[in-house]
Amino acid sequence: MGYKNQLSVGLGLTLLLLGGTALGYVTEPSKPAAPEEKAPPVELVNTSECYSCHTNIEEFHSTGSHATVNCAYCHDAQEHLDKAEEDNIGARPITLMNPDVCSSCHLMQYNSFVEVNLHSKARVEKASFKSRSPMFDKLIAGHGFAKEHAEPRSHVFMLVDHFIVDRAYGGRFQLKDWTHITDGRGAAQGAWTVLTDAEPETSEQKAFLPQTATAANPVCLNCKTMDHILDWAYMGDENENAKWARTSNVVDFARSLNHGLNCFMCHDPHSAQPRVVRDGLINAVVDREMGTYPYDAEKSAEVTMTKVTFKRGGEEGEDFRAIGLLSKPDSNVMCAQCHVEYNCNPGFDTSTGEYSVKMTDRRTNHFFWQNVLDYRAAADQINFRDFKHAATGALLSKLQHPETETYWGSKHERAGVECKHCHMPKMQTPDGQSYTFHGQRSARYMKADTCVSCHEGWSDEEAEYQIDAIQEYIRGKITKAEFWLASFIDIYSLAKRQGASEEVLAKARAAHDEAHTYWEWWTAENSDGFHNPDMARESLTRSITISQDAIKMLREAIGEGIDKI
Ligand code: HEC
Ligand code: HEC
Ligand code: HEC
Ligand code: HEC
Ligand code: HEC
Ligand code: HEC
Ligand code: HEC
Repeated sequence: MGYKNQLSVGLGLTLLLLGGTALGYVTEPSKPAAPEEKAPPVELVNTSECYSCHTNIEEFHSTGSHATVNCAYCHDAQEHLDKAEEDNIGARPITLMNPDVCSSCHLMQYNSFVEVNLHSKARVEKASFKSRSPMFDKLIAGHGFAKEHAEPRSHVFMLVDHFIVDRAYGGRFQLKDWTHITDGRGAAQGAWTVLTDAEPETSEQKAFLPQTATAANPVCLNCKTMDHILDWAYMGDENENAKWARTSNVVDFARSLNHGLNCFMCHDPHSAQPRVVRDGLINAVVDREMGTYPYDAEKSAEVTMTKVTFKRGGEEGEDFRAIGLLSKPDSNVMCAQCHVEYNCNPGFDTSTGEYSVKMTDRRTNHFFWQNVLDYRAAADQINFRDFKHAATGALLSKLQHPETETYWGSKHERAGVECKHCHMPKMQTPDGQSYTFHGQRSARYMKADTCVSCHEGWSDEEAEYQIDAIQEYIRGKITKAEFWLASFIDIYSLAKRQGASEEVLAKARAAHDEAHTYWEWWTAENSDGFHNPDMARESLTRSITISQDAIKMLREAIGEGIDKI
């Protein structure tokens, strides 16, 4: 690519110190410990004994860079081994899901992973005048996101923030008190160390607080944690060997989960190879043959994903779960496990117009894997919309954080830049050890290690100015799209009251669906256009034009001109 990739030791250090102080973590970046020295005292097992039954694991473990890492670091398996010898089935060993198991050998990655960035504020409501979508509640009327829709903050909080958001569990789960809002250490140890449950003895989804909703379901949690990786069958289908499924009681499921974003989501624990585990992504890339880059066959051929299936009930047993091994580390694909538009809820079947798609239906765990311009066609293909707008009755989509699909086709993506170059730069410890910063945060707070390392000659200030220019321009377009959509909704109601024909109203509802998608994508996406300014402009200006044309049509149907707005 020919860009400079210089490591800026100074800023890396400052960031580490900041995060460390805020949390009370190790504040002095130190050399990652050699495995033998710092690993917790574990009673090592004889791996060849384990291999004798687990030949599939042997294939991964014995050849990769973890070949010397004993099973016992991650599995409490001695009893299993003893019992396994007796009856050839054995007691189920404990598998440790927490990131600390990796920290003994990969300290710098772990320390940066659990850092809190205090500049990224908590509970910033998107439907506020300070955020990107002041008209959100009117435009989304009828959907649970109108209860609370917050901007993202540090990764270490992802599971806690899901449990406490007002739209998910009716306010059942709350922080023990507000001081825990910065408790990254607690959140990293386990979400339940910082939370309370209003009714621990019941598992019912109901409103415990006013102005809350109970919209959570087990699929949502797959974009927060993989603690359940051994208890969840592929795609969340019901399965006699699976403790949890799409249809499980979500309160019980939630209580069984503890750690956000497990390290093993991107790294195979046995071979240390790059991988993904999110079933919806594996389904889109491999089963539906869309590839890792659906708009670029060449890049898809370069970064391939191999689906490896694990059975239950021995070699002859049935397929249970799957992982997707990557031919090379590609953070665009790793981050796409969560930073994508996916469907994760019941909804409307557009072939009947009924609210009939239940959690039993695989459409409730679906990655569309399309950009904003092709999104509606993909939703039509599976006859799905999320909700009915309270004012117009149009069936509409609710987008989720589509950072990856937005990024495709941008100038940066075309030039081979990945998410990691801006959100997880390479840094150095004082004694010169290089490591990848794992506290994925906005590039705004580490411009020297990101923007400036490629755009030679820019100062930090200039890099910031570049980010702001794109964001200010696109936020302007978002506001205009919201203004015209809101006007459309008012005029739709007026036209209906004044007796506009069902033919005109039906056309208007179809226009609402289109204008809505071209706008809402950019409220759900979190870069305010930076990831792909050209696509943002194209989509938002389409939204504005469609709303204006629909307003004109409705006005004409009731004998008024567009100038009356
Ligand atoms: C660095 C941590 C780590 C080490 C070391 C490790 N494992 Fe695992 N193992 C895991 C995790 C995490 C899972 C959960 C499934 C996954 O991540 O794919 C797992 C899953 C498994 C499974 C379940 C596979 C299935 O059928 O679903 C078996 C069996 C297993 N490990 C055996 C072993 C054996 C044997 C060793 C030593 C030779 C070993 N593991 C070493 C972390 C580890
Ligand atoms: C007992 C020590 C130990 C533990 C525990 C451990 N690792 Fe490793 N890891 C190693 C060693 C040794 C290497 C190979 C040498 C190196 O690359 O530094 C390695 C390499 C890696 C690599 C680089 C792979 C490559 O080929 O470039 C990744 C990624 C990785 N480990 C992830 C993890 C994750 C995730 C966990 C926890 C689930 C974990 N490790 C737990 C010792 C450990
Ligand atoms: C398991 C799902 C998951 C994966 C994988 C994931 N993220 Fe996130 N990410 C989240 C969630 C959820 C949040 C919001 C957390 C919150 O607000 O509590 C988030 C927040 C962020 C933020 C905002 C942080 C801040 O300080 O405001 C950035 C930046 C980010 N992710 C980048 C990435 C990048 C880059 C990758 C890939 C290397 C990635 N994420 C992988 C789920 C994920
Ligand atoms: C005599 C055969 C045998 C030996 C030896 C053996 N296992 Fe297993 N192990 C099994 C069987 C059978 C299962 C259940 C697999 C299934 O459900 O399909 C299992 C399951 C597992 C699982 C998955 C548990 C889960 O939560 O789903 C892990 C992890 C595991 N073994 C680790 C180990 C480790 C580590 C060793 C060595 C210390 C070991 N096993 C030795 C037979 C064995
Ligand atoms: C060329 C640099 C660059 C690349 C590549 C990039 N981003 Fe970003 N990203 C940014 C900037 C700049 C922002 C805006 C941050 C801000 O306003 O503070 C941002 C914002 C975000 C946010 C919201 C952060 C916040 O603080 O609210 C997330 C999440 C995110 N990016 C994820 C990703 C993912 C996933 C990828 C890869 C598919 C990616 N980014 C690729 C530069 C980049
Ligand atoms: C969202 C995906 C993701 C998660 C989760 C993740 N990593 Fe990584 N990790 C990466 C990427 C991307 C790289 C850089 C790979 C490359 O391009 O060389 C990396 C690199 C590494 C390496 C290789 C050495 C280095 O620093 O470049 C180690 C070791 C590692 N990670 C350990 C961990 C540990 C420990 C955790 C949990 C605390 C973790 N990772 C969680 C994406 C992830
Ligand atoms: C890994 C290297 C790399 C990093 C990191 C990087 N850029 Fe770039 N950037 C490029 C390359 C290469 C191009 C030129 C693409 C082209 O001209 O086709 C580019 C293009 C741009 C453009 C023009 C985009 C457009 O659509 O016209 C802007 C603006 C920009 N970068 C700003 C930034 C900012 C701000 C950051 C930090 C948040 C950043 N870049 C981080 C390599 C990088």
